[in-house]
Amino acid sequence: MSSAASNTKKNILILGSTGPLGALTTQEALAHHFKITIFVRSPEKLAQEIKDNQNITARLLTETAKLFPLLPSFSHIVSVLGPQGLSYKGKAISEFYTVLLQKILTFPTSNRPYVLALSTPSQEAPQDTFSLPMYFMLMIFKRVGAGPYSEIRAITQSFEKYGNGIQWTLYRVGYLTDTVGKGFASAGWIGDERWKLSTSRSDIARWLIREVECEESQRKWVGLMPALSED
Ligand SMILES: NC(=O)c1ccc[n+]([C@@H]2O[C@H](COP(=O)([O-])OP(=O)(O)OC[C@H]3O[C@@H](n4cnc5c(N)ncnc54)[C@H](OP(=O)(O)O)[C@@H]3O)[C@@H](O)[C@H]2O)c1
Repeated sequence: MSSAASNTKKNILILGSTGPLGALTTQEALAHHFKITIFVRSPEKLAQEIKDNQNITARLLTETAKLFPLLPSFSHIVSVLGPQGLSYKGKAISEFYTVLLQKILTFPTSNRPYVLALSTPSQEAPQDTFSLPMYFMLMIFKRVGAGPYSEIRAITQSFEKYGNGIQWTLYRVGYLTDTVGKGFASAGWIGDERWKLSTSRSDIARWLIREVECEESQRKWVGLMPALSED
């Protein structure tokens, strides 16, 4: 089967399509012929290309009553939801994931989508090693961005507590740039020789969609929190 033909069988839910990374991810998914559903908070912010596209079904994120019955039909959920800005407060995103994961757990294993959700270096992974720039950056960020810092950590707690029995990956992104990247973001661990704090949004979008295309047996990052960076 050609990759375009097998991709039409993948039905993916994308969350966060109104932001720059979400728009790029949605466009990349379209280019790969996936069936796409998006749930958005601010439909007026959607890029015209996404708004007009017949292959996308758009709904409001607040309509969870409409979202939850659809969950077993999705093969993948790709979320780029994240706290916006240093003054972000609250736990809206982690609480949403808690409800989402609990709902997914009520489905038979074969109907549980693979969830790829955004995180940041505010969450360390056991495989990370010491990085002096990251150490200083986190010291500052904990003070000036206490709200986003604690939301990111609450997102991890939500997946660790309710994600047992679900395939998930929390991909961690650092400083996002709009430079047109060379290809795919590289996935690894903070402190690795190749790890860098910045990554282009387009490289992350391509990495995400490549993960969606991957056969289940070849998924490398299930239950892990890889740090994405420039290749
Ligand atoms: N910019 C950076 O350098 C940087 C660094 C580290 C991490 N990040 C993370 O990366 C994410 C993506 O960044 P971006 O600049 O491409 O996009 P963005 O403009 O921050 O967009 C984030 C997306 O998430 C949605 N969203 C956020 N909170 C939500 C909530 N409570 N309910 C519903 N939707 C919500 C936004 O919806 P609306 O359009 O309705 O607001 C938007 O679609 C950010 O959210 C941030 O957490 C960014």
